[in-house]
Amino acid sequence: MSEETPTSETLANLLKENRRFEPPAELAADANVKADAYDEAASDREAFWAKAADRLTWDTKWDKVLDDSKPPFFKWFTGGKLNAAYNCVDRHVENGKGDKVAIHWVGEPEDDTRDLTYADLKREVSKAANALASLGVATGDRVAIYMPMIPEAVIAMLACARIGAPHTVVFGGFSADSLASRLDDCNAKVVVTSDGGYRRGSPAALKPAVDEALTKTDVVEKVLVVRRTGQDVEWNDDKDVWWHDVVDSASEDHTPEAFDAEHPLYVMYTSGTTGKPKGILHTTGGYLTQASYTHWSVFDLKDDDVYWCTADIGWVTGHSYIVYGPLANGVTQVLYEGTPDSPERGRWWKIVQEHKVSIFYTAPTAIRSFMKQGPDVPGRFDMSSLRILGSVGEPINPEAYVWYRHVIGGDRTPVVDTWWQTETGAMMISPLPGVTAGKPGSAMKALPGIDADVVDDEGNSVPNGSGGYLVVSSPWPSMLRTIWGDDDRYVDTYWSRFKAKGFYFAGDGAKKDTDGDIWVLGRVDDVMNVSGHRLSTTEIESALVSHPCVAEAAVVGATDADTGQAVVAYVILREGVDQGEHIEKDLSDHVRKEIGPIAKPRSIMIVPELPKTRSGKIMRRLLRDVAEKRDIGDTTTLADSSIMELISAGQATSTED
Ligand code: WTA
Repeated sequence: MSEETPTSETLANLLKENRRFEPPAELAADANVKADAYDEAASDREAFWAKAADRLTWDTKWDKVLDDSKPPFFKWFTGGKLNAAYNCVDRHVENGKGDKVAIHWVGEPEDDTRDLTYADLKREVSKAANALASLGVATGDRVAIYMPMIPEAVIAMLACARIGAPHTVVFGGFSADSLASRLDDCNAKVVVTSDGGYRRGSPAALKPAVDEALTKTDVVEKVLVVRRTGQDVEWNDDKDVWWHDVVDSASEDHTPEAFDAEHPLYVMYTSGTTGKPKGILHTTGGYLTQASYTHWSVFDLKDDDVYWCTADIGWVTGHSYIVYGPLANGVTQVLYEGTPDSPERGRWWKIVQEHKVSIFYTAPTAIRSFMKQGPDVPGRFDMSSLRILGSVGEPINPEAYVWYRHVIGGDRTPVVDTWWQTETGAMMISPLPGVTAGKPGSAMKALPGIDADVVDDEGNSVPNGSGGYLVVSSPWPSMLRTIWGDDDRYVDTYWSRFKAKGFYFAGDGAKKDTDGDIWVLGRVDDVMNVSGHRLSTTEIESALVSHPCVAEAAVVGATDADTGQAVVAYVILREGVDQGEHIEKDLSDHVRKEIGPIAKPRSIMIVPELPKTRSGKIMRRLLRDVAEKRDIGDTTTLADSSIMELISAGQATSTED
């Protein structure tokens, strides 16, 4: 982000969103959380979080809600003891909910399904905990989980939590090298994996990547392998153990031990500005408190809801909003193994219809890809069970928000745009569906008990109508505790930018609109400076996506001799639209109309696909390389590496008039 603050004229141009969606009256009347929660939390934050922590079952009550004696190494609920797996599983069985379905698992091959009740889950988690212990895993040892979206992935995570062995789940799409570096970094004693999983109709192998990773690191003692696809696997008798051999024969009885509130629960690796991934450490009591509270409040969870979060278990969203938050709340949820379009484009909506999903949580990148296909695909299904829709992972463009609400939600459903990060552990900024009049594209304001702000270079709060850096100004229960094995990097990365103020710097730019509501603009390195005006790639992308011909757009700032940076746009057109001859000129005029002449792209390239990481984030760095006519940098984290060749081979069309 540039050093200067934007002019009010720029911001006025940037913001032209007048649509508002009031909460449905019935939902508002019966909402879990009402407007008074903000005041309650503001008057005594610690008492507010203590009440939220009471949602959990503790073996020993805490002495202190927040220990802030050694910032930024904060501790929550010190002296308290609990077991995360007991909270997610056993206590529901003890409360008479043993027969309630915890997981409706849907395999990718049709009719390959499995339902697990809370009683089933208790049995399976206990057996897996006993099996891990028999393989030598002790409290404090790390276990890596490298699996497809099958129930055993959730069972393995909970089994680790049950014995106090922090897990590190590595996304199944990562390469053997990435897996090896993570195994090494956290010194994982055991890896839990499977022979493979189903992906677009065929079995995709996983174990070979583990085998290869184990040639690059020698920290791993045992590999526990679930048989999912039945495909052939190499077998090393010294290390490899079948899940069905050791788990199926293990005892169903396992007494969960209570661990300290600050006992490590998991390490989740995420990319930073330098090459080496950061192992984000989350602990037990505060994390589970905020994951559970936010899942209950932001989705207004009721006992008969059917919840579905489409994230992969390999990302933080899968941790907080498939495993820990929802299961701590005793939810019934859908877990789906495959891709949205296998065997047909309507697969997700068919699952919504069949399981009568009422709360649905997904990412803007998925929503935009459905927009591209048009409304007919979801239109074939009855989705009247949906009552709340959520979005996470990147800024949602106003057009995508309105499409999501209208086409998927039938105009009944509030859309909650939830801002948070791997580091924050749980949601931080989001509407409350029974309270907030939503604005398409805005995450609105910090949740009760959270202090977030937008500040200038000196860390001073910017006035409404201005932009700056997004910070969290007080500690929160589910915050990261450190970067695994690297306290200095933790302090440097997150706490040094606004050291004097003691703020956590999230790395995102944001603005406050005239009502003080927050619009997250994306990572600060995605913010451009054109002729001294600060422009967000996200805003220009939203403008492009609001054009009827556009399905998806990515914008980068390319170095420009005249203007410092210039806007370069990459655009995917919707299928089957009549784009006309002058599509690039039309789009450029459209951006000029939506935002102002300053945002007009220097060039627009029509492309068949955009370069994305496996988690769906657009890799703007690569697009910047093309825009600046450099050799294309490292493409190893791309989901599909052939895309950059297609894009570089295309013709950039100048739209200068
Ligand atoms: C972005 C995912 C705008 C943001 C939970 C953040 C968002 C990064 C939103 C964290 C949102 C996430 N609106 N931007 N609702 N949610 N982001 O660690 O840039 O994979 O810093 O966590 O995603 O991504 P992460």
